[in-house]
Amino acid sequence: MKKTLIATLMAAMAGTAWAGDADVSALKEEGREIARQFLGTLKPELQKAMKSGGPVHAIDVCHKKAPQITAELSKKTGWELKRTSTKVRNPNNAPDEWEKRVLAQFEQQKARGADVKKLEVGEVVEENGHKVFRYAKAIPTGKVCVACHGAHVHAPVMEAIKTYYPHDQATGFKPGDIRGMFSFKKPL
Ligand code: HEC
Repeated sequence: MKKTLIATLMAAMAGTAWAGDADVSALKEEGREIARQFLGTLKPELQKAMKSGGPVHAIDVCHKKAPQITAELSKKTGWELKRTSTKVRNPNNAPDEWEKRVLAQFEQQKARGADVKKLEVGEVVEENGHKVFRYAKAIPTGKVCVACHGAHVHAPVMEAIKTYYPHDQATGFKPGDIRGMFSFKKPL
């Protein structure tokens, strides 16, 4: 008890947010590191596929690899990993209520001039009576992304997208827009 009190006081002095015994700033740093790893695995796969066979081929790769990489990294880290968006391509990536709220908050922060690359949230929430740490980090739209997520996706590319994702919503983005976000969860 005494230890907790001291730790709480120290955290308060250091300006870090504590929720019970969870060290929010350490968990956020963990989330940031996983986002780096996630991006560091996805992006080279995408670039390699785009280079070897163009966007139509890359869709095939994304379709197989993105969920696979997500599952593998979840297993490795012990966190539940996800990518989501206000407009999803894969319906399995649809946002839950918490994610919808964070996505809206990121859009507001961007509208007020915030740097999209730096937008993140980390907080302890209660889900079904259990404490979980939730972390989210915005994913900006880059130039390469518009080939498959932009406003003018070429017909053969769109056709390939619709084959796998008949309910695709993830087009109309331009560089600088928030394409979506990483969303991670860790049971505490
Ligand atoms: C070759 C086409 C292609 C390119 C280029 C591409 N994506 Fe995607 N993107 C996809 C496909 C296909 C999916 C669905 C993957 C799945 O089934 O999980 C997807 C899904 C996503 C998702 C998950 C949410 C959702 O809509 O389902 C995010 C976030 C995302 N892409 C961001 C990006 C960003 C950022 C870039 C640029 C760095 C990018 N994508 C470039 C094809 C592409």
